[in-house]
Amino acid sequence: MQDRPLTVLGLESSCDETAAAVIRRYPDGRIEVLADQVRGQASHHAPYGGVVPEIAARAHIDVMDDLICDALEESGLALSDMDGFAATSGPGLIGGVMAALMTAKGLALGTGRPLIAVNHLEGHALSPRLAEPLAFPYLLLLVSGGHTQLLIAEAFGRYHRVGSTLDDAAGEAFDKTAKVMGLGFPGGPALERMAQAGDPDRFPMPTPLKGRPGCDFSFAGLKTAARQIFEALDTPDETDKADLAAAVQRAIATSLASRARRAMVMFKDRYPDTPTPSLVVAGGVAANALVRSLLDEAAREEGFQRVAPPMKWCTDNAAMIALAGAEHLARGETDTLDAPARARWPLDPERALDAPILGSGRKGPKA
Ligand code: KG4
Ligand code: ZN
Repeated sequence: MQDRPLTVLGLESSCDETAAAVIRRYPDGRIEVLADQVRGQASHHAPYGGVVPEIAARAHIDVMDDLICDALEESGLALSDMDGFAATSGPGLIGGVMAALMTAKGLALGTGRPLIAVNHLEGHALSPRLAEPLAFPYLLLLVSGGHTQLLIAEAFGRYHRVGSTLDDAAGEAFDKTAKVMGLGFPGGPALERMAQAGDPDRFPMPTPLKGRPGCDFSFAGLKTAARQIFEALDTPDETDKADLAAAVQRAIATSLASRARRAMVMFKDRYPDTPTPSLVVAGGVAANALVRSLLDEAAREEGFQRVAPPMKWCTDNAAMIALAGAEHLARGETDTLDAPARARWPLDPERALDAPILGSGRKGPKA
């Protein structure tokens, strides 16, 4: 383990945020965020009602250099002050992933400093540690537009996946339902606003994976049910939309809380000696007030404290990538310049091979 402070530039471009950040890791594990720049692409994708991979990749390239300059200026440091360059190298949209990874390779080659190829999911798993020290083990619920999974972070580098979506991510279910209802993009916040005035009891929703034990999720059935209900309505008015939005939101939030509750029970069996275990909730869907309140209730009842990283570190950002990079660097774990960009890269490869629950394509199980 390195016994001096390490300064790392991190880059992120695996979905629709371009991000660059500089962090410093001290030998006692303390973290200082020296710069944290994020640029979204919502206006590029809004006309299509979802992220268009090709447009995302080009937009990342357009802003990456400027963003790195902004991050360096914010930190008051130069490239030559960096001890290493970390980039998300998967999982994600492959064209986008390449933007950050290739840039970091160029910086590593140009400065002679190491490259660290970071798993984006490990970044999310470590993200609460940007704000405050958090002891291992803890339970993480990651709910974003690309991922819905429950992980036990046992120690640095040891993550055990206890549940994952069999089909769509929760954010995708919000986005696609909002698109069908013509609510705009990104759909999650629009659907939450619409749901405020709605009656969640008017339209019955199916219960995903009813009767099935375990901590896996499924949202495709809910999405289809919502579409069928909406299409069967004669010229839907604002009340119809509000009622349907409220029903879908409640069904998603209830399913997240029920699986998180099972995972908390499993966690307590596995780690009976953790006094007040933590449930960390990360990902864009964690911004949803009903999701948060049902998770709070479940955590309280199971004796967990819910830890919510500040929203800027819940959604995609480069500080978490720089942090994961710095942790690897401190352990002497660096990558060569032929590190590949990966569309799929499960954080828990053993579990993914045992139980390829997500359509295992040619490249292996999806993350
Ligand atoms: O973590 P994130 O910013 O990006 C990735 O997907 O990696 O998450 C974005 C997702 C989108 O699906 C968005 O609709 C959803 O989070 N989201 C919400 C809310 N805010 C963002 N879903 C429900 N309610 C919200 N308030
Ligand atoms: Zn993410």
